[in-house]
Amino acid sequence: MAIAQLIPSLEPRLRELFDQHNERAANIDWAYSDYVPLDEFQRDPQSIPRLSPTILSAIELAVFTEVNLPWFTTALHAIFKGSWSVLLDFVHTWTSEEDAHSVLLETYLFVGRNGDPRARAALRKQVIRTGLMSADLLYDPLQALVYTSIQERATQIYYLNVAQAAEKEDPHLARLLRRLAKDETLHYTFYRDAVKLHLEADPNCVYPVADVLLKFEMPGRGSPGYQERADLVRLANIYGPEQFYSQVIDVVLKYWRVAELHPTYAEAREAQQQIVKQHTRLGKIAAQLAARRERQAQQEASQD
Ligand SMILES: [Fe+2]
Ligand SMILES: [Fe+2]
Repeated sequence: MAIAQLIPSLEPRLRELFDQHNERAANIDWAYSDYVPLDEFQRDPQSIPRLSPTILSAIELAVFTEVNLPWFTTALHAIFKGSWSVLLDFVHTWTSEEDAHSVLLETYLFVGRNGDPRARAALRKQVIRTGLMSADLLYDPLQALVYTSIQERATQIYYLNVAQAAEKEDPHLARLLRRLAKDETLHYTFYRDAVKLHLEADPNCVYPVADVLLKFEMPGRGSPGYQERADLVRLANIYGPEQFYSQVIDVVLKYWRVAELHPTYAEAREAQQQIVKQHTRLGKIAAQLAARRERQAQQEASQD
């Protein structure tokens, strides 16, 4: 007997969430040409910002994550197949929206002559040929909803934080990244609320959260040059374990009120304890990293 799985009575509620998603997405519909200031760049090529190595790395990291889309779609489709049609419908819509992300990012880098487009094209092929499957860890639809909630929240925060860091050197890029973050917000909202409905209907649905949380990896992990790029982004305090804790995990777990649930199965209660423990552990790591970062900043300031 499965401890936690999709609850059939919730299917119409998910259909409502999907309808809401479509309405919101239609209100903010966009095309990549809206966010690439081609005329301005052509008129005055000198005005094209040169991106710093950190921001370029942050964008390329996002590109090599987003281009793996065919395999994310494959994994989610396989997991949702045979469950509810609304989940498959969402995956189709979601894929069409995600597809625009790598197109916009790559076009922006290409038009602005940032980075090496040939190297990027080769890496793009390599990523797709390899077919990274962090979603391989997933085995059932409810677990996949938990995973995608965390992953969409992570990409939303990633884009928002990179936008903030890029604002000064390239306001066009910051605007574009905030645009992508809006899409990720809508994706996050769908998945997050689908899980929330399950937890409210049956607290034993907390069971798969533990597994996902303990094994979670960013979807781009393993792409070529991932570690170097991720290190630059982390060292610039844009995105790393600190943000993963305070802006992603802490927010998602509190929204789901995981600590206050009352599961009836022993396995689900045990999973809940594991989650609370991991939440605390990630919080401690984040606090240690923040303290270290502050000490280093103070040292550097006193050396000046
Ligand atoms: Fe995306
Ligand atoms: Fe997304």
